[in-house]
Amino acid sequence: MNQRGILIIDFGGQYTQLIARRVRECGVYSEILPYTAGIEEIRQAAPVGVILSGGPASVLDADAPTIDPAVFDLGVPVLGICYGMQLMAHLLGGDIRRGDTREYGRTSVTVDDPTGLLKELAHENTCWMSHTWQVVRVPEGFHVAAHTASCPTAAMADESRRLYGVQFHPEVTHTHHGTQLLKAFLLDICHAPAEWSMAAYAEQAVKAIRAQVGEGTVLLGLSGGVDSAVAAALLQRAIGKRLTCVYIDHGFMRAGESDQVEEVFTRTFPVNLVRVDASSRFFHALEGVIEPEEKRHIIGREFVEAFKEASAKLGRLDHFAQGTIYPDVIESGQVKGSAVIKSHHNVGGLPAELGFTSLVEPLRMLFKDEVRRLGLTLGLPETLVNRQPFPGPGLAIRVIGEVTPEKVRIVRESDRILREEVAAAGVKASQYFTVLTNAKSVGVMGDERTYAYAIAIRAVTTDDFMTADVVRMPWEVLDRITARIIGEVNGCNRVLYDVTTKPPASIEWE
Ligand code: XMP
Repeated sequence: MNQRGILIIDFGGQYTQLIARRVRECGVYSEILPYTAGIEEIRQAAPVGVILSGGPASVLDADAPTIDPAVFDLGVPVLGICYGMQLMAHLLGGDIRRGDTREYGRTSVTVDDPTGLLKELAHENTCWMSHTWQVVRVPEGFHVAAHTASCPTAAMADESRRLYGVQFHPEVTHTHHGTQLLKAFLLDICHAPAEWSMAAYAEQAVKAIRAQVGEGTVLLGLSGGVDSAVAAALLQRAIGKRLTCVYIDHGFMRAGESDQVEEVFTRTFPVNLVRVDASSRFFHALEGVIEPEEKRHIIGREFVEAFKEASAKLGRLDHFAQGTIYPDVIESGQVKGSAVIKSHHNVGGLPAELGFTSLVEPLRMLFKDEVRRLGLTLGLPETLVNRQPFPGPGLAIRVIGEVTPEKVRIVRESDRILREEVAAAGVKASQYFTVLTNAKSVGVMGDERTYAYAIAIRAVTTDDFMTADVVRMPWEVLDRITARIIGEVNGCNRVLYDVTTKPPASIEWE
């Protein structure tokens, strides 16, 4: 470690990256090492503090992940979280037992020692627990700093050696004052310098890319989304023109998006950009298809084919890059994984098939909002970085029924109007778009009978996109949007507002 930072030792816990993220939020540099790293590697890193993560095992298992107890004699503070605390207790001579009840979820923790690590916690503090085993006797030199109704040691401390343990998870937002606890550990106990920033991360990532790629060339598939755009900006900074980006325009992007991508990566971050207009192949492949899953499947397949064709024309490039972010890594079940490629719709299986030397994933450890902040730090335009989520298959799944260029035009134009009006009115929404319902109805315009499509407006608020509430859109805004859509977009004569929450409906219609 080339800065005075924190070392997080990973015992396979599901929240290890979240710990790293919280440490970053406190402005402190951190690195994660697997528990298999030797004590020499830990010593060489010269951290100002160590955090032992949670993990799924029991410390009493024969093959339980463990660590050299010399870590407690490094002279720097150590904080064990969940499994990390149990391991600390076990290695230093305490007792671990299986609890009578498994504590899971929000739990009230009673603080017995409101100093040091726990100084910002309330006497009764809601904390997030997830454990079966518990520390029933703390090691010599430690005292119990907190307990719960069923767990005698919710926190323990040995102030003289600066060793601390918490059974609950301070990194999870459900733990009240969890960030303050981590801050107390990092800043007051470890005296870690709070000088880490996104700009520092960018520099570090640039160095790591250069080390991985050497003098080689890199191919990146630009999807038009935020993640691959930020990855491209970072790679451009690291290797400039040795980066080639292939942007497959499937013809289902929102108004102006493809041009914006081209503008940014030819002017602001000049790379070798190959923009492929593949819309005719996508429309052709989707002819007559109405079933949503079949549409998605076909789009995924055509994407891979179009990408293969484009990269074959480029000749061999050395490395393959993609904008995988941490939630993708979790979702694809490869938290511990190495270079397995996730089956993303636009790159599935390509790197192995095309014989790349390595996979470059510079955003692999970042969460979505961190990726957005990194994008802004690098100088990507706000309009590109802060866009609302957009599904990979694009407008094709916002046209119900068969997808035709004419229907995509209608949904694209109406969507542009909706976005303009929502922005102008300052309506707060997490995601909003229009859908071409495929229902035609009779109308009357300028004394003429019309028979045209009904457009639906979908606008939701949500934190995690797993559940969503409907935006209470002011009538006057809906009036304006409706008047503009009917007036400006040929082919539709009716506008509907979708008032269904998720569940029961999903956010997208297909
Ligand atoms: P649903 O429709 O499942 O959508 O309620 C939840 C969120 O996921 C987005 N979404 C996708 N994002 N590829 C993506 O990258 C996809 O195929 C896809 N399908 C849905 C959707 O826009 C919403 O934000």
